[in-house]
Amino acid sequence: MQIAPSILSADFGKFAAEVEEVIEAGCDWIHVDVMDGQFVPNITMGHQVVEALRKRFDCTLDVHLMVTEPERVISAFADAGADVITVHKEATPHVHRALELVRSYGIQAGLALNPGTVLDGLEYVDDLIDLLLIMTVNPGFGGQTFIPATRNKIRDARARLVKANRGNVRIEVDGGINLQTIGDAKLAGAEIFVAGSAVFGEPDRKAAIGALLRALDAAQA
Ligand code: DX5
Ligand code: ZN
Repeated sequence: MQIAPSILSADFGKFAAEVEEVIEAGCDWIHVDVMDGQFVPNITMGHQVVEALRKRFDCTLDVHLMVTEPERVISAFADAGADVITVHKEATPHVHRALELVRSYGIQAGLALNPGTVLDGLEYVDDLIDLLLIMTVNPGFGGQTFIPATRNKIRDARARLVKANRGNVRIEVDGGINLQTIGDAKLAGAEIFVAGSAVFGEPDRKAAIGALLRALDAAQA
């Protein structure tokens, strides 16, 4: 089980200190939300941010590309030091090629699905992915509310992966993860939990991460 704080919700005026704080609190995954102003309305950060984080921190840099035609930028993020690059199925007609490209850099590949995207076709790319990112809100903004229907989707995805002998693919959930929702997401089959406002929106990040971990522990089937 992994909590991956999303730096989208961090204070950009003291960026490095913010990341340092959550790493010191025990998180070894940092989730980097890249938005291009086209796939989603906002523009956030480019590969230079990953490069800067890589120079300073050893943690796993989990890059979530909310970018149209991600194959255009995968090499820049891989060269910058990303450990995981996740692309959206909806963002390219060539998702198989994009995943192959990520893998060609020897790093982990993730496939992201928006809340309205069906799971069908997963079997055609499941041998190319290390993680499946199930969006539990529509991408584009931090601080949104977890969409309850995604619980069944997580369960369904887990079952399909296990049936296809790809049970080692980890399910990551992203959006609206907090003390109220993290347990349900775990029970449905998620193993990596992105948390933006539930970590950086709290004054005491260490306490916030501790509380999320306790909520995970408490969630037993
Ligand atoms: C949404 C991003 C998320 C976001 C999560 O498009 O992909 O990673 O930062 O933020 P919270 O946890 O506040 O919903
Ligand atoms: Zn994200």
